[in-house]
Amino acid sequence: MQTKLQELEKRGLAEIDSAKDLNSLQEIEVKYLGRKSELSEIMHGLKDLSPEEKRIIGPLSNATKTTITQALSNKRSGMEAEKIRQQLSTEFFDLTYPGKPHEIGHIHPLSQVQAEVENIFSDMGFAIMDGPEVESEYYNFEGLNIPADHPARDMQDTFFLKDKSEAKHGRLVLRTHTSPVQIRTMEKYGAPLRVIMPGRVFRYEATDASHDTTFYQVEGLLIDKHISLAHLKGVMEEFLTRLFGQPSARREGEAVRPSEGGLGLVGPKPTANIKVRFRPGYFPFVEPGLELDFSCLLCNEKGCSVCKRTGWLEFMGAGMVHPNVLKAGGIDPKEYQGWAFGFGLTRLVMMRYGIDDIRLLQSGDLRFLRQF
Ligand code: FA5
Repeated sequence: MQTKLQELEKRGLAEIDSAKDLNSLQEIEVKYLGRKSELSEIMHGLKDLSPEEKRIIGPLSNATKTTITQALSNKRSGMEAEKIRQQLSTEFFDLTYPGKPHEIGHIHPLSQVQAEVENIFSDMGFAIMDGPEVESEYYNFEGLNIPADHPARDMQDTFFLKDKSEAKHGRLVLRTHTSPVQIRTMEKYGAPLRVIMPGRVFRYEATDASHDTTFYQVEGLLIDKHISLAHLKGVMEEFLTRLFGQPSARREGEAVRPSEGGLGLVGPKPTANIKVRFRPGYFPFVEPGLELDFSCLLCNEKGCSVCKRTGWLEFMGAGMVHPNVLKAGGIDPKEYQGWAFGFGLTRLVMMRYGIDDIRLLQSGDLRFLRQF
């Protein structure tokens, strides 16, 4: 048995030594150390040997196994090192080769301008609120002094959610304006209030260069004692001056100027001297009501498809909050009054960057978006 083990070890070491590659080394490992190998058989048979034989053969078979295992491991490391050496001498790897640049996205122009608007109003002490895009008829209409049979319901064509209604608040709709957030904010915080409420709104209407079915508005609400429309005029003038003011007035992180005259861009005029005009307007949730237009920067008031050749673009509805709306929000109209406005953020982005078709903003067209 001793001689057999010595002979086995000698044979194994010789085969390992002359092995040519990793595959043959694997075969040798199975042959000499595998479950069906001679060495395994000897080790399994140990239990049938006499105690004296066991004392000699036991340690010897263990030593044979260790020697072969060690030899296999040395040979394998040598072969692997040689493989890498060969690869390094035949293949060229240029560590200085520049990598492929990842395409980095950027903030959508709508979000850029929304951030600018939020910064300006925050500076003026306004908090920023949010509300749901799927609204109940109550918040979208009734709470805003627009009962079911009121003709003003036709002013904003509405998307209704099929078969969905809330027992308390009527059918569910995609909100047609950000005004419902007025009621929600009054209910939640009471008076006084100084908030803006930016968000996405939806209307079931035909689209053109200045109308889309999905667009963004910014609602504003100021409730306090002794408030008049003079405060609204002051706030809007300050807001528009800061937004369209000198570039040095813009703060870090605010919108950048896109390249002039690309797809859909007739040339941005972020520093332009925008003109505004107030005119009377009707909304059931304000009294008196007014509208604010701004001069069309796209055509310098000469007339274009966006301003429908009038030189002016309707930008905002506003007015003193109707007492019924204050009551719906749980505020006593005898004690408090205030004004509200709702402007088209998407139209503001058009003026800010000189975009001649509103539909480009949500087209997902990368040729357009990459310009910002
Ligand atoms: C309203 O939505 C009122 N909730 C505004 C308001 C709030 C009045 C608070 C009084 C007090 P109007 O439907 O006019 O009003 O829309 C407001 C602004 O949203 C418009 O001046 C315009 O800038 C923008 N807008 C309206 N319809 C569209 C449209 N289809 N596409 C893009 N912008 C639009």
